[in-house]
Amino acid sequence: MRKKIVAGNWKMNKTFEEAEELITEIADGLDEMDLNGHGVILCPPALYIEMATDVAEESLFEVGAQNVYPADSGAFTGEISPLMLKKLNVGYCIVGHSERRKYFQEDALFLKQKVDALLRNGVIPIFCCGETLPEREAGNHFRIVEDQLIASLFHLDAADFSKIIIAYEPVWAIGTGVNATKEQAQEMHAFIRERISGKYGVAIAQDLTILYGGSCNAKNAAELFSQPDVDGGLIGGASLKTEEFLQIVASL
Ligand code: 13P
Repeated sequence: MRKKIVAGNWKMNKTFEEAEELITEIADGLDEMDLNGHGVILCPPALYIEMATDVAEESLFEVGAQNVYPADSGAFTGEISPLMLKKLNVGYCIVGHSERRKYFQEDALFLKQKVDALLRNGVIPIFCCGETLPEREAGNHFRIVEDQLIASLFHLDAADFSKIIIAYEPVWAIGTGVNATKEQAQEMHAFIRERISGKYGVAIAQDLTILYGGSCNAKNAAELFSQPDVDGGLIGGASLKTEEFLQIVASL
C-alpha cells in the first residue's frame, strides 16, 4: 500500500550504547509527534536489531535490517537469514544498496534471490536502485535504473510485487552532500512508476511507495517529499542525529 515513509539506514555506525541512546531519543521524539499514518523505519546494524525491536514494541517506528542472506538457514558463516529477521519482528530489509553492489560485488541475480527469500518469509524488501555519475552524464540513467528493476524485481508476480518498497538512490548523491534536485528526483520516480505501470498495471504502480535517498537532510527533505511521486526518504548520515532525523520525519 502506498504510504509516506522515512527510513533511516544507519549503515555501519554507532557503538551499542550510542545506538541505544539514539533509538531511545528517536522513540521519545516520535511519541511527541503526530505521524498522521506515515511510517518510520529504523535500520540499525544487525547486532542491535533485538534491542531496536524491543524499543519498537512500545514506539511508533518499525525495524528494518540492512542486509540478509537468501537462505532460511545453513552453513553460511557470518550471515543472517530472513527467517531469523522475521522471528525478531523485523518487517523490512534493504536490498541492492549501491554500497553492497560495489563493495560486496552483489549482482542482480543475488539481489533477486534476496528479494524472493525475504518475501517468502514475510519481510518487505526496500529495493534500492540508482545510477552512477558517469552513467547519468552519458544519459544512461533511465536505462540503468530500468535494468536494475527488470533484473531483480520483474520476475515477481503482481501479489508479491505490490508488497515491496523501492528506493531511488543516485550513487552520486549518497554521502556526498549533493542531493538530486526535486526535479531530478521527481523525473526518475515518475519514470519508475511509469515502467511499473507498464509491467504490472496502473493500480499497482500508483500503490507503490518510492523513496528518495542520497544526501537527504532536514533542509531539503520537505522540498523533495513535496514531489508527487516521491513518497518519503531513505536517509543515511542525517538519520544518525536525533533532531535532524525527527525534522525529516516531520517533513513528510
Ligand atoms: P546519505 O543520506 O548519507 O547520503 O546516504 C543515503 C543512503 O545511502 C541511504 O541508504
